[in-house]
Amino acid sequence: MEKPYVRFGIIGAGTIADFHAEAIRSVPDARLAAVCDTDAERAAAFARKHGIECHTDLADFLARAPIDAVTVATPTGLHGAVAIPAARAGKHVLCEKPLDVTAEKSQAIIDACKEAGVLLVPVFQYRFGGGAIRLKRAIEAGRFGRLLHLSGRIKWWRSQDYYDSGAWRGTWALDGGGCLMNQSIHTIDLMLHFGGRPEQVFGYTATRTHTGIEVEDCACAVLRFASGAMGVIESSTACAPGFPARIEVSGERGTAALEGDALTEWRFADTDAGDEAILAGIGEKKLGSGASDPKAINVEGHRLQIADMTRAILAGGQPAIDGAEAKIPVELICGIYTSMQTGRPYIFAR
Ligand SMILES: NC(=O)c1ccc[n+]([C@@H]2O[C@H](COP(=O)([O-])OP(=O)(O)OC[C@H]3O[C@@H](n4cnc5c(N)ncnc54)[C@H](O)[C@@H]3O)[C@@H](O)[C@H]2O)c1
Repeated sequence: MEKPYVRFGIIGAGTIADFHAEAIRSVPDARLAAVCDTDAERAAAFARKHGIECHTDLADFLARAPIDAVTVATPTGLHGAVAIPAARAGKHVLCEKPLDVTAEKSQAIIDACKEAGVLLVPVFQYRFGGGAIRLKRAIEAGRFGRLLHLSGRIKWWRSQDYYDSGAWRGTWALDGGGCLMNQSIHTIDLMLHFGGRPEQVFGYTATRTHTGIEVEDCACAVLRFASGAMGVIESSTACAPGFPARIEVSGERGTAALEGDALTEWRFADTDAGDEAILAGIGEKKLGSGASDPKAINVEGHRLQIADMTRAILAGGQPAIDGAEAKIPVELICGIYTSMQTGRPYIFAR
């Protein structure tokens, strides 16, 4: 008898969809079965390329395609519009980052999945990098002592052509923001994963080099975590030539730095048996960096996340990243936008 597997359908056959298709293919317990895109030509080309069912109508796709789960890969501001009907149709939801363009819209997806009893898995593939996993474990083991400072530097670059390549890019309604919301959210999610609950954030944003976009291509922000730790975010898609995102975590007993998915600093007052192996692997990158080109990532992070999701569906249990966690970076980024408008810090509800 064939082992059970999870059948995926992809909604939105654009840039990131091919990464999902390849990642699904490389997970033994997952199958790619169908695609749905409102652009008939794109849907047909993607279906032909991957040998799967083709749909252009969401209701028809959800009713007839032989699928257990969907990948939501539409423009961000449409995530809820497709994820909520998918959840109501009983499909598990793998949703690309950001969950949606506001905390309220993100919450609507979380609620729909909960009510339907399906899994909501938000894509944050950099959480699955070896460096991020080791760093999180060291924090949980108390190796930093009290956390003091977390900094995230995301001095990336996107061409004008990138913003011109889709009418939704760089719009408030569909992109939800600029460098912070679309690109730096990966790093901001990691900072929150490491630093815990945020309490306040204050920020500046500006559009410095790109034209025809409504949103920021440069931003900086300071934040305070509930633990008392402080954070700084520098975010851009205007910095040539584009550098790997860097996170530094410092506590009273140690400091570590992550560049892309690789640890580049690992220094503690007290040594640990595993340190030698970590120091030997310093600088080892596996996930690729989108610093200058969104297609320069590799599928490894998506593969690990899809493997984690299929395990949770087939064997039961929770996936590594809970849907509700993905609302927090969206709220933080929207908080920076609010702070820019009001000139005051945005304060999170307790
Ligand atoms: N995890 C990552 O590293 C990563 C990288 C790139 C993009 N993304 C995210 O993936 C999402 C898509 O980004 P992209 O760059 O692939 O966009 P894209 O513009 O290349 O593709 C979006 C596709 O969605 C289709 N679409 C639009 N409305 C639709 C609807 N109602 N139903 C079905 N299909 C619809 C479009 O026709 C298009 O083919 C965004 O949320 C983005 O933030 C994540």
